[in-house]
Amino acid sequence: MSTSTFAALRSIGAYAPKKVLSNKDLEAMVDTSDEWIVKRTGISERRIAADNEYTSDMGAKACEIAITRAGIMKSEIDLVICATVTPDYFNMPSTACIISKKIGISNVQAFDISAACSGFVYLLSIAKAFIESGMKKNILIVGAEKFSSIVDYTDRGTCILFGDGAGAAVVSATSNKAEAIVDINASADGTYADFLVTPGPGSVHPATHKMIEEKLNFVQMKGNETFKLAVKTLTQDVTEILKKNNLKASDIPHFVPHQANYRIIKAVGDALGMSKEQVVLTIQKYGNTSAASIPMALNDIYESGRLKKGDMMLLDTFGGGLTWASALLPFAGK
Ligand code: UT7
Repeated sequence: MSTSTFAALRSIGAYAPKKVLSNKDLEAMVDTSDEWIVKRTGISERRIAADNEYTSDMGAKACEIAITRAGIMKSEIDLVICATVTPDYFNMPSTACIISKKIGISNVQAFDISAACSGFVYLLSIAKAFIESGMKKNILIVGAEKFSSIVDYTDRGTCILFGDGAGAAVVSATSNKAEAIVDINASADGTYADFLVTPGPGSVHPATHKMIEEKLNFVQMKGNETFKLAVKTLTQDVTEILKKNNLKASDIPHFVPHQANYRIIKAVGDALGMSKEQVVLTIQKYGNTSAASIPMALNDIYESGRLKKGDMMLLDTFGGGLTWASALLPFAGK
């Protein structure tokens, strides 16, 4: 391994579909209220992809932006990885292969990963390892979800939370240590696999009429149990990664948490002593977009001019598996 090769986050891009699903719209669909949703989750609206707009379409749009902003040629990209739990197809071909085709990248390695909402930070860890080992130089990573395709819009416990979208980034090799991803802590515990699950189709529940009748193709969530574990795990995780790298909360201008529930974000932010200005929030307008949530939030601060070259970011996320991950990195884009 070459010790002088580091991995740097060169760019960010995102795409949100046009259609807005507001809390008021949901009031007409399930027994809920705008007031309950805002108070319990912080969400006011979320975006929903068109019927003929697929995960790969949203991913491809985010990738095009990320590549342009990285200022590299498509021919320089040597790996494409997509994180999604709502792939175009269950489970072949991979959405990464379809995205590559749609944006005109061919003859490079491409594959998907499944780490639910932790997908984007898992992608960063994979990109870092490929680059530091010298195997790849410019990696396109994308978190993309058409979550509405697995949501039961008669289940008020889940349908109020999720939305669709995509976010992408280019991670490149650099010899400049100041640009390097500092640290990533990614973990999982299958003990809690039943907290967040899409039971079918799969080898346990293959596609049958019965599987559809029992609505096993929709996401099921133990919301309150997931909530409590998320607060505990995330607080521990971010505290540890800061301590391990001799950093304080005040050293981090941008704390970018997974946008799952405002109350989770606030509890973790408060435990760290983060001010309102440090915490990035997009949940009010996008809801929970799973693997797309963190890159969409990063894109938001990039496009609003808040994210500047060299700014240190703390990412943290939590999702089905259960999986969780945190990352410390400077923004190495323009
Ligand atoms: O991204 C992956 C990770 N996922 C998460 O982090 C999700 C974490 N969980 C959550 O965000 C929250 O648990 C929810 C927002 C899903 C639910 O909030 P909660 O405060 O945990 O509520 P609860 O499940 O304990 O339910 C409290 C009450 C119940 O009524 P009763 O039994 O007290 O009469 C629910 O039936 O709220 C009711 N309820 C609702 N009421 C109005 C549940 N959903 C709704 C709703 N509208 N949409």
